[in-house]
Amino acid sequence: MCGITGYVGGRASSVRLVLDNLKRLEYRGYDSAGVAVVTPNSPTVTVMKKAGKLANLTGSLGDLAFASGAAIAHTRWATHGRPNDGNAHPHTDCSGRIALIHNGIIENYLDLKDDLLAQGHTFSSDTDTEVLVHLIEERLKTSDGLETALRSALASVTGAYSICVVSEMEPDVIYAAKTASPLIIGLGEGENFLASDIPAVMEYTRRVLVLEDGDFVKITPDQVTITTLEGAPLQRDVFAVTWDVSTASKGGYDHFMLKEIHEQPQTIRDTLRGRVSDTNQVMFPELKLSREQLLNFNRIVIVACGTAYHAGMVAKHFYEALLRRPVEVSVASEFRYSDPIVDQHTLAIIISQSGETADTLAALREAKVKGATTLAVVNVVGSSIAREADEVIYTYAGPEISVASTKAYTTQLVALYLVGLFIAEQENRLGPTVVSDYVELLKALPAQVAEVLKLGPEIKELAQGLSKSSSFFFLGRGFDYAVAMEAALKLKEVSYIHAEAYAAGEMKHGPLALVEPGVTVVCFATQSALYDKMLSNVKEITARDGGAVALVKEGDEGLDTRSVDSVLRIPSTHDWFMPILAIVPMQMLAYYIAAALGREIDQPRNLAKSVTVE
Ligand code: F6R
Repeated sequence: MCGITGYVGGRASSVRLVLDNLKRLEYRGYDSAGVAVVTPNSPTVTVMKKAGKLANLTGSLGDLAFASGAAIAHTRWATHGRPNDGNAHPHTDCSGRIALIHNGIIENYLDLKDDLLAQGHTFSSDTDTEVLVHLIEERLKTSDGLETALRSALASVTGAYSICVVSEMEPDVIYAAKTASPLIIGLGEGENFLASDIPAVMEYTRRVLVLEDGDFVKITPDQVTITTLEGAPLQRDVFAVTWDVSTASKGGYDHFMLKEIHEQPQTIRDTLRGRVSDTNQVMFPELKLSREQLLNFNRIVIVACGTAYHAGMVAKHFYEALLRRPVEVSVASEFRYSDPIVDQHTLAIIISQSGETADTLAALREAKVKGATTLAVVNVVGSSIAREADEVIYTYAGPEISVASTKAYTTQLVALYLVGLFIAEQENRLGPTVVSDYVELLKALPAQVAEVLKLGPEIKELAQGLSKSSSFFFLGRGFDYAVAMEAALKLKEVSYIHAEAYAAGEMKHGPLALVEPGVTVVCFATQSALYDKMLSNVKEITARDGGAVALVKEGDEGLDTRSVDSVLRIPSTHDWFMPILAIVPMQMLAYYIAAALGREIDQPRNLAKSVTVE
């Protein structure tokens, strides 16, 4: 996720100030950085930007380090276009009089860009952002000033943004606006600040306005004006920050893992954004795959590691049900040495949050050598896997800082569901009405995940008792088994308690011998067709005095605290999409058990975020 800072006021070296503030947002992850300042006498916009770490930029500033005036700065987390100097923000219009920074995605940028090119604008980056600054320049021709031009331009873009704009036309002003991406104002005396997050401004002020979607802002050293995009005045309450900097960078949560769990309604929305048309059909403008190519594939192989592999397990069930085509899921470290049966009729789907996992990268290369078409589902833009795959779909989960993956998994699932629906649509397996019905269910997921998150206090209490368990089993059938695998991984990596997932029907073939008091068995029962079978499996556990926790859909009457120790009830959707709702309480359970045991939650022992060794 990009980071934004801004400053208007009288301090010397505002450039250094906005870059120092930006440093406090480094936890958000980024691949390039830039700054723009409007030097006050004979106002001129000066921009400097560099790929790589902030130090690359600060080391190249020269005299600019001492410049004063309204300043904005940005760390970029690439979405459209490679992480390089040219694609870094700020972007400027053709005249160089306006500079803009942006966090989010402009969905209709290609259409806007075509129009602007026809109107004679020249572009110097591959980004969606640059389109907006040229659009402002264009609208200036028919507006009475920058503010009106900016409002008019924003009314023409669709997508998600928080933006900041400076211009030599109004040297003491920063304009800002926000839809989905975060933006706050720090209130000072004779100075004001803007930032993506509170820690950026805490050295200077603890009085903060948290902006809401649709807010349009003008700040000067002495004034903050908030209106709707149409100009109606708005009031936002001043929030007094009492946190320390470390808590603030976690959004007030104790750990990044918990913060990232709570980000999931938004990240799921971000993955869906731009992939669903007004008529609820799936679109992937980024894919070059033709209908003929899709029909040419007689099998799909999915390759990944860890959590990403578990997302692949869910996709296997979904694709086989939907596409009626054999789907094989392989752990990348096995796939690469197995002389896999892959040829030019194979679609190889490679899943990776980091895009750098050595085993997954090697598996991708192996699939390519054997003639498969490779489609990567990746979070980190411009990563090795994204660069080397034939096709890429980004999950747009934003940087995941906790080693234990949470939001990356649910966004991988959303992307994989969309891919399945897209293929089914292209192959005429599903008509538009059916696709629309499924898409409607996917669009409902963010609100449903938000409902699941409300189980937090209940799960925290449950976790206190369960943290004393010596061992855990996670049982499910079909889609539930795939989620059980991810739930077991989450628990073991952050709590260090032994946990295993089993296909529920397999317990009686051996592992049941291990069930005894002190062992907790979490039973997933979200799949209608398999529900009765699952009930029998639960009875096998309780008959052996194992502690049993059931995860069921709301309204389920079959499992209650007469049959198991605890029941977690989650909202209901189509069985295929239940994994997204079912994993969230398990992420919270793992988190709260680990917290009860005092573990190093964000950086568990022996683990690394990006595994670049075999
Ligand atoms: C578990 C976890 C790991 C990763 C695995 C693959 O929480 O994070 O299991 O999922 O190392 O990493 P990526 O997705 O980056 O290829």
